[in-house]
Amino acid sequence: MATIKFVDDDLTVNAAVGQNLRDIAQNEGSTIPFGCELGVCGTCLSRVQAPEGAISSMEEQEKETLEALGAEVDCRLVCQCRVEKDDDITITSAH
Ligand code: FES
Repeated sequence: MATIKFVDDDLTVNAAVGQNLRDIAQNEGSTIPFGCELGVCGTCLSRVQAPEGAISSMEEQEKETLEALGAEVDCRLVCQCRVEKDDDITITSAH
């Protein structure tokens, strides 16, 4: 199991490889806001700290949106991230 820590919500949960961080956030009661859920609107922009390979790499749409937002390098769109291996993942608001 991976361990996901939602810092702003003071919430730590376990998650299985393959789960989407959006689903975990929504199911576990995190306050991370979501809009399009397609990697376009940037509503779910967050700082995501995770060891190399612990979450899915960026696809083109997410890269484009992060660039357009001028997001910092540790930021990801939570709706586009999947757990890739059992490790510790920390998510903090970027807004
Ligand atoms: S909810 Fe729109 S980019 Fe994640």
